[in-house]
Order: sequence, then C-alpha cells, then structure tokens
Amino acid sequence: MSTASPVKTTAVAAQGVWKAYGQGEAQVVALRDVSVEFASGAFTAIMGPSGSGKSTLMHCLAGLDTTDRGTVGIGDTTITGLGDKALTKLRRDKIGFIFQQFNLLPTLTAEENITLPLAIAGAKADPDWIKRIIHTLDLTDRLSHKPTELSGGQQQRVACARALASRPEVVFADEPTGNLDTRSGAEVLNFLRTSVDDFGQTIVMVTHDPNAAAYADRVVFLADGQIVEDMADPTADKVIDKMKHFEELVAAAQGENA
Ligand SMILES: Nc1ncnc2c1ncn2[C@@H]1O[C@H](COP(=O)(O)OP(=O)(O)OP(=O)(O)O)[C@@H](O)[C@H]1O
Ligand SMILES: [Mg+2]
Repeated sequence: MSTASPVKTTAVAAQGVWKAYGQGEAQVVALRDVSVEFASGAFTAIMGPSGSGKSTLMHCLAGLDTTDRGTVGIGDTTITGLGDKALTKLRRDKIGFIFQQFNLLPTLTAEENITLPLAIAGAKADPDWIKRIIHTLDLTDRLSHKPTELSGGQQQRVACARALASRPEVVFADEPTGNLDTRSGAEVLNFLRTSVDDFGQTIVMVTHDPNAAAYADRVVFLADGQIVEDMADPTADKVIDKMKHFEELVAAAQGENA
C-alpha cells in the first residue's frame, strides 16, 4: 500500500481517447474511447493480451504519440494539441521513461547516462537526490562503468535512476522487467515500489507478469483497445484468476458496446 499523502491529486488523465493506425481495410483501432485517471503517488500496472493497446495507451499518455480523439492531461497541463516543442519540453521536465530494452547510450558511463537528460534540459542535478537514488539502487560501485560492462539488471537499474533523476511528475515503464531474470526483475520492482512509498513517485507500468503486477496498488486490464477491468490492491493470485476469466470479461465489454 502507498503511504503517500492522503489527498490524492491526479497525475495523468485520459478522457475519451481513440487511436487508430493505418487506413481503410488495413486500419487497426488500437484504443477505443479510453478514459482513465492515475492518482499522484500511486503505482498502477497495465495488463492485457499482446496487441490490446497497452503500449499505444502509454505512448498517448506520455505524449510520444498523438490521439485521434479525446484528451490527455499530465498534472494540470492538457498535452493534447501541444506543439512539438512544448511537448518535448513537457516530456523532458515531467515524464520519466523505462523501457524493456534499457535504451542506455553505449559510449557513456552509468553516471553520465543517469544525468544526461538533466544536462540536456539545462537543469541542475540535485546531488543529494541523485546520490539517494543511486544508493537505493545499489549502483554506487558501478557509476564509471559503460553499459556493456554492466549486467542486464544493473543496466535497468541505471535506466530507473535516469527516469527518476529529474523527479518527474510520472514515470512510465513499458515491461521494465521483460528482459530480466527473476531476481534482477524483483530488484527493479522493489525499487519502483520504494520510489512510490518513500519518494511519492507516480508510476504507470505495463507488464505481462502477474507477480510484477502484484507490486502495484492497482491493475488496469485492457482488451481490444478498451479497459475491461480495474483492480485495486492486486495480488498475483487475484491477477491470475482474472486472466483466467479474461475471455468472459472481453465478451461482456463487447456486449455492452454493441
Ligand atoms: N505504429 C503502428 N502502426 C500500425 N499498427 C500499430 C502500430 N503500433 C501498434 N499498432 C497496432 O495497434 C494494436 C495495439 O498495439 P500495442 O503495441 O499498443 O499493443 P500491446 O498491448 O502493447 O502489445 P504487446 O503486449 O505485444 O506489446 C496492435 O494491433 C498493433 O499491431
Ligand atoms: Mg507493448
């Protein structure tokens, strides 16, 4: 459970979001009228079958992709309709990303990778804050190493530190443990949980893994571009049980929309 402030504000909100790719016969509707809010200081997992729209939703929420209809807000800013320049600035200042493939720059050290986004933004790193995340992630001895000299788990921990370095309004993570073994995955998930409980971070994480989802405060299930279930206080067993009955959930959602 989150121990963040009792007054919950909304960090991210989507209202009536539609998104399609391609034209005519080849068109794929990836999001169908999705409305969802993510509370500040909460850890939310997004689950659903492959192709259900999880990454698309995350990209639309993060301003990495545009919506066809509907609006997205980050904090008190409506990002829908913002120009490229304003969006780039907003992503840099308010959003942290963690990807499945780590996406570290190979020629830079771990420390340079962590502080690069701040340097690009022309922002001053808060040395105490950076030190604290590096310590929490157990990276103190690895700061001068290049990504090729780090294990997968260490690389992803560097990516976590990079995502949190600017204290963003929200961190989006797309299958952050997808390329990690169980132990390294647990380290990353424990850190994400700690960052919510101790630092009040807001996290939205896509995952296929019920055990990973159990670290979250809430799980939003997507199917066929729609939210079909919203679960509070998930456990791995609750999530697995829900996945077993997923076909019924989807049929019910489609029936409602027919
Ligand atoms: N750039 C694109 N061009 C065309 N179709 C796309 C594009 N991106 C996604 N799609 C389609 O939109 C649908 C949703 O894709 P999305 O990547 O959001 O799924 P996902 O839930 O993240 O799946 P996975 O679990 O496999 O990552 C899929 O049918 C996909 O093929
Ligand atoms: Mg995806």
